Parts: sequence; C-alpha cells; structure tokens
Amino acid sequence: MEARWPEPPSSAASILVTGGAGFIGSHLLEQIIGRFPGLRVTCLDALTYAGSRLNIEPFLNAENFRFIQADLRDRAQVDEAVREAQPDWVFHLAAETHVDRSIHQPSEAALTNVVGSLNLMDSCRSAWGSHAAESKRFIQVSTDEVFGSLTEGKFSEASSYDPSSPYSASKAGADHFAFAFCRTFDFPAIVTWCTNNYGPRQHPEKLIPLMTLNALSGKPLPIYGDGLHARDWLFAADHTEGLWRAACLGRVGQGYCFGGSTELTNLQVVDAIIKNVATAAGRSEDEVRSQIVHVADRPGHDRRYALDWAKAQTELEWAPRTPFEKGFAATIRWYLDNPQWAAAVGGSRFEEWLNVNYGSRGREASR
Ligand code: NAD
Ligand code: TYD
Repeated sequence: MEARWPEPPSSAASILVTGGAGFIGSHLLEQIIGRFPGLRVTCLDALTYAGSRLNIEPFLNAENFRFIQADLRDRAQVDEAVREAQPDWVFHLAAETHVDRSIHQPSEAALTNVVGSLNLMDSCRSAWGSHAAESKRFIQVSTDEVFGSLTEGKFSEASSYDPSSPYSASKAGADHFAFAFCRTFDFPAIVTWCTNNYGPRQHPEKLIPLMTLNALSGKPLPIYGDGLHARDWLFAADHTEGLWRAACLGRVGQGYCFGGSTELTNLQVVDAIIKNVATAAGRSEDEVRSQIVHVADRPGHDRRYALDWAKAQTELEWAPRTPFEKGFAATIRWYLDNPQWAAAVGGSRFEEWLNVNYGSRGREASR
C-alpha cells in the first residue's frame, strides 16, 4: 500500500521536529522535506550520543531546512529555539530512548524526557498564547512501553499507564504533562503511542542494528533471558506517516496508537537477522547462529507489547504499509551497505557502554 501524506493547511507553515538527528526523527525530516518543499522545517537536537549529524546531512543544504543544536533540559536554549523557529506544528521526538541506559542512569531519562518535554511544551504555550488549538499542534511522540507488559490481547488508547522501566516511566511523565496541558491551558497536544520501530539509522545499541553488526563481525549475539519476549515491529517510515496524519487529522487532547501487527519474539528477530547476514556474507546460517549467547535478563523486562491501531485507522486513515519481510530486508541491507555510518555512530564512547551493559551480564547456561 502506498503512503499517503495529506497536504498541511496553510496555517502550518513552520514545522519543528525535535530529535531529528536521531533514528525516527531523521525519517520524519526526510519525508516532510522531500514532500513539502514549501514548508519551513527546523530540527532541534542536542546531538547526544544517540544523535548524529550524518542523519541530517542530506538536508543541511536544503533552503527550507534549519538545524538548531539545543538541549531541551535548558529552558533558555529551548525558548531561544522556539523564538527562532516560530513553529506552527511541533513533532516532539527528542528523548533518551534506551531502556538499558535508563536502568543505569534513571535521572538522565527523567531530565530529558520529563523536564525537557515540559520545557518544550511550556515554551510553546508561551509562544502560542491563547486560541492555539485553532491552528497549532504539538505531537507528543510516545511509546507502547508506557502501558507496561501485556499477557494477552493488545493495548489501546483506553489502556492504563503502568510503566516498568525508568525510560517508560519518564515517557509516561511527559504524556501526563501533555494531557494536563490540554485540560489546563487548552494546549493543542496530541499523544501518539507506537510499537517498536525498525529501519535504517537506528542506533546500534538497539536490538536489530546491534545484532546485525555483531553477526557481521563475528561477535556474540547477546539474547536477554530466554529470548521469548515479544515486540510488535513497525517500519519507521510508516510511523512517520502516522505522526503526520495525527497532526493533519487528529483531535486535540486525544491519543492514537500505531502498531505494525508484526509480533515476533526476540529469538525470531535474531533468526531473521542471521538468515539475512549469512546470505549476504556467504556464511552458513549455523555458523552465524553459533554466535548466540543467552545473557542475564534485563531487570523489569516487559514480556510482550502489542497495540490495537483501529482508532488511527478510523480517524486518521492510517495503516502500516510496509510488509515486514520487505522493510526488514531493506533495513539489514542498509546496515551492510553503510559500515562508515556504524563506525561513526559507534566509537570509543559506545564501546564503553557495551562494557557497562554487557560486561556484568555474563553468559547464562545455554538453553
Ligand atoms: P533516538 O535515540 O534514535 O534519537 C533521539 C534523539 O533525541 C537524538 O538525536 C538525540 O540527540 C536527541 N536528544 C536526546 N536528548 C536530548 C536533549 N536533552 N535535547 C535535545 N535533543 C536530545 O530515538 P528514536 O528511536 O528515534 O525515538 C524517537 C522518539 O520516538 C522518542 O521519543 C521515543 O520515545 C519514541 N519511540 C521510539 C520507538 C522506537 O522503537 N525507536 C518506538 C516508539 C516510540
Ligand atoms: P530494544 O531494541 O532495546 O528495544 P525495547 O527494549 O525498547 O523494546 O530491545 C528489543 C528487545 O530485545 C527487548 O526485549 C530487549 C531485547 N534485547 C536483547 O535480547 N539483547 C540485546 O542486546 C538488546 C539490546 C535487546
């Protein structure tokens, strides 16, 4: 199914994307800049370890694009960026996004995801004044992880918040501020929850790029616990279409779920990576599979996530468009074809993180 991106109203002339130098944000920028050359597009990003200038390089010379390096934790920097961008629509993606890092440093997640989000919302509220709901939009990009772990069925917009990790707790905090701002200040926020994304340019700390790059280089493939935890996977470009449609068609004060309807255990995902890498590298699958090691589980590890996206289908006419096999093969191909990206995003700081996260996990008895 082909992606469809509605034309924005004339009142939405200036778009601010936070976290645009990260994974999903760079896909959103790519789509908006490519499709709507008449819009002014600003990317606000602190370029933390997770953000890379490489991810926004293709847009740096575009006439309608501006990059502002700013840290959401600093209110003065946020106010300055909002003054400069004068956004009509804000897509707020910047966040500390890694569950494992949030377990090691919970306050980092809280400072960026709660305080940083609050700074941004409050700055926009001041800039927009009253009657903002008529033309302004603030898309608070959130995650299915705020609903906690699922045993059966699917989470939906009616599900209760029940976060398990410091990451998901901090995302929940930002969502609560968004809804509270709607009620208290008529702030024009819409909250979106999405399942796990995959695609090019995802930081190698996350499952799919980590396993792909390790499979290629002969390093261990560290599966947390039994590997039977299930995630629902959505191609990042499909997620960005949902975000755009939420801004165009969504109702202020509402939330929308986006899911891929592609539920897989971690072992199934790693198996698919092994098959792709073995073919590409001319190695046997068994040889690559022998790199799997089961390591100590993540504390508080949610067993399963899945979202019911019927409301997004009805109200936003959104559906996941990219078949998993197609998106997955393109994703793995991208990591194989772009070793220089992985080298630049990795480096010594990343090696330090790998030691912190995996050094203490040890190897569990083989299963
Ligand atoms: P990412 O980690 O790839 O990128 C995050 C970006 O935010 C980076 O460019 C980083 O430099 C920037 N950033 C971090 N702290 C900042 C700060 N204090 N000030 C300014 N910029 C800062 O993240 P992602 O995977 O692209 O996720 C984007 C958003 O989507 C996040 O809000 C995340 O919670 C949400 N989300 C992600 C997924 C997923 O599977 N990746 C699923 C559902 C929701
Ligand atoms: P991740 O990519 O960190 O996303 P999230 O925790 O936000 O879902 O992890 C996806 C799944 O893969 C999750 O169940 C944890 C698991 N995982 C491993 O088994 N080994 C790893 O080295 C990593 C990074 C993740």
